[in-house]
Amino acid sequence: MTTPKPAFANTAFQPHLSRRQQKKALFEKAAREQAGYANDTAFRRVERQYRSRVPPPDLTDVLDFRPGAPNTPALAARIVPIALDTEDSNGYWAGLGASPPTQGYMVRNFPGLIVIPGCFAPDVQRRLIKDCLRRYAVPPAKSNLDALYLTPPEGLWNRYKREGAGEAKPEPVTRIVPTPATEKGKEDEPTAVTAGALIPRLRWVTLGYQYNWSAKEYFLDAPQPFPAPIGQLARAVVGSIHDVGYVAADGPDLISSPRHTWLSSSAEPADEPTGYVHRYDPAGYEPEAGVINFYQARDSLMAHVDRSEQNMEAPLVSVSLGNTAIFVIGDESRDTPPLSMYLRSGDIVCMCGPRRRALHGIPRVLEDTLPDYLTSTDDVLAEDFEWDSFAAYMTTTRININVRQVFNKDRQPPSGGIEP
Ligand code: OGA
Ligand code: MN
Repeated sequence: MTTPKPAFANTAFQPHLSRRQQKKALFEKAAREQAGYANDTAFRRVERQYRSRVPPPDLTDVLDFRPGAPNTPALAARIVPIALDTEDSNGYWAGLGASPPTQGYMVRNFPGLIVIPGCFAPDVQRRLIKDCLRRYAVPPAKSNLDALYLTPPEGLWNRYKREGAGEAKPEPVTRIVPTPATEKGKEDEPTAVTAGALIPRLRWVTLGYQYNWSAKEYFLDAPQPFPAPIGQLARAVVGSIHDVGYVAADGPDLISSPRHTWLSSSAEPADEPTGYVHRYDPAGYEPEAGVINFYQARDSLMAHVDRSEQNMEAPLVSVSLGNTAIFVIGDESRDTPPLSMYLRSGDIVCMCGPRRRALHGIPRVLEDTLPDYLTSTDDVLAEDFEWDSFAAYMTTTRININVRQVFNKDRQPPSGGIEP
């Protein structure tokens, strides 16, 4: 006869064991903890610091690119102001109803990161947020909810609005995956829910080439058309950052440009490279795939490298909207403590050059940081009567739009792929 396994076999204290066996179990538990600690990395520790609720995180070392922000002297010394290209020769910014940004920032000894804080005026931000919900989070674009629910063809937001306005009879969104067998006494998960109830559960939508998150590959056979305004936005940014950078005053002869910031060498740490100038020919840039992330207040995005694109040289353009986040970015190693910075509504981050292959993540979305102009009580844009429902959703939300070029300029598009 076999003895049934005790239910507490995984815990350290097991009363059925002899003293010697118990000692062994405790030793093994300590070894497991030690191994967990060995897997701990500098990057991980920083993420954990910002994720902590009790105690709340120390934000002293979070870089703040707003003019006049109270950065520590050590951080302030690393910020390099960069003059952006304001030509807008192709009218990309004008087409967005925005004027070209003039001021960007880099970080010393951290080549490839370009931040353009406060890039979009309030009305442009509102339009982007509305479009994300009404135009882009709509089939055939895929979302995280497609694994469980049959998203209505008009999209969740539009369905929710029509039902709310009483134009449509409430039509619940049906669950396509059978309800899991639930434990006795527990309620079954409903097989249908309202569109409104699902909206806070929206986490991502993919644009252009759709992405298979488990295989970490693009589906190359059935690309969606890339939304023109988002493509235009990414092209505008890539045009603005071309040939910007910083050079050391006594560095090797670099061609002088009004878009190169000259650093005095005396202030430089000895190990600092002479400079970094970002160059990616805007004429060769194609926005081909994008992700819109919808974060609720307690969501985070763990450290990762976006490495599924064949083209790892084109800048990755990323736009923040809504509540403020803490963004962390390091290099290719988890043993390097990352830089952390605030990303506020309207900020743009470009990951270029070596930073395109860097580990990065969002450990925290800061609650109650929605700017006044995105709340419903704001009267500056009072004529925007439809904003109220968006404002209610945005109270707890951060939206991130990020755009990638997947292929190299001289690529052979796969059959059925997007032709340039
Ligand atoms: C991503 C990403 C960053 C952000 O989606 O790959 O890194 O700011 N997002 O949300
Ligand atoms: Mn990423």
